[in-house]
Amino acid sequence: MMKPYRAGIKGTGSILPGKKLTNSQLESIVETSDEWIIKRTGIRERHILEDGVPLAKIAAEASVKAINDAGLNPADIELIIASTCTPDYLTPSLSCMVQRETGAKNAAALDVNAACTGFIYALQTGRQFIENGTYNNVLIVSAEALSRVTDFNDRKTCVLFGDGAGAVVLSKVDDETGVEEVFLGAVGDDGNVLTIPLLYASDIDVQNRNQGKKQVIWMDGSEVFTFASRIMSEATKKVLDNAGTEMEQVKYIFPHQANMRILQNAAKRLGVSMDRIYSNLEYTGNISSASIPVCLDEASNKGLLKKGDKIIMVAFGGGLTYGSALLTWSKQH
Ligand code: ACO
Repeated sequence: MMKPYRAGIKGTGSILPGKKLTNSQLESIVETSDEWIIKRTGIRERHILEDGVPLAKIAAEASVKAINDAGLNPADIELIIASTCTPDYLTPSLSCMVQRETGAKNAAALDVNAACTGFIYALQTGRQFIENGTYNNVLIVSAEALSRVTDFNDRKTCVLFGDGAGAVVLSKVDDETGVEEVFLGAVGDDGNVLTIPLLYASDIDVQNRNQGKKQVIWMDGSEVFTFASRIMSEATKKVLDNAGTEMEQVKYIFPHQANMRILQNAAKRLGVSMDRIYSNLEYTGNISSASIPVCLDEASNKGLLKKGDKIIMVAFGGGLTYGSALLTWSKQH
């Protein structure tokens, strides 16, 4: 169906906190090794949000970069959509805190929580407001402080996660670029394989955790791994089929950065070489919904993306959730 308007990414921005946690530092915290972590995940280091710093700070800094990159002022933003599963507060929402920190005083503000798939869910939400003519400029910011919900005594999870923020400005475009197709899904039946309790925890969730550490990540790693390996390729194929586009027309895939072996499995199933799969997890770890917009900002800054390039973004995460998006790059550089 033809939409009245098209929505394209006109600006990107990202922040990785200055403090780093390397594999060798983790060796002195839990029984693990640099060799095991690299071989099983591909991760060498991750960035950690400093104590006492709100997540909203890096979310706002990434947002300001994206707004400047789009050649706009904060006052031009009409809607802020923040995706996070680690907000500073239940209320105010992260999006309202970003509004305050950026001075985007004309914007409405809402949060989305789809764990690591949050950016794709936010993109699909934001594009609607542009395509139906409600707004011209929507800020999407995905920010996570997973280190704050990590049990650093649990070697099965603490080596995987990091912190960071990535933002894009989605604007009305008057050419053939922009969001083409988005595909979203969820498997709530399997939500118990990856949990972070907050105000309630089931008996099983309490049993799975070290005593007294209720509000931390617990994950059945191999269940999530199996799901991720399958869904990354299936969701990619689905969005291509729905758009009537061939894989050969796509320049890069930007997958959620969880584990290098998941990316390799997806590449194999899709018959795509690894040089078309963007990856930065070696020095970020898994930063949940922030991972795709951080990758987009990096790739844009490196000059890898040119106006007219087709890209796919694909993610899976807690919930369980999954999603993929096909987009034609709108920025000149
Ligand atoms: N260091 C050393 N040994 C370890 C470590 C570690 N950090 N972690 C686990 N091991 C051990 C295990 O105890 C096990 O030992 P055992 O055989 O004696 O019991 C052995 O290594 C193998 O463990 P597996 O769990 O089978 O290891 P696997 O190769 O599956 O890798 C991993 C585990 C990395 C967690 C993998 O399953 C994975 O990446 N899963 C997906 C995680 C993911 O993508 N999560 C996304 C979450 S998204 C979100 O929304 C937050």
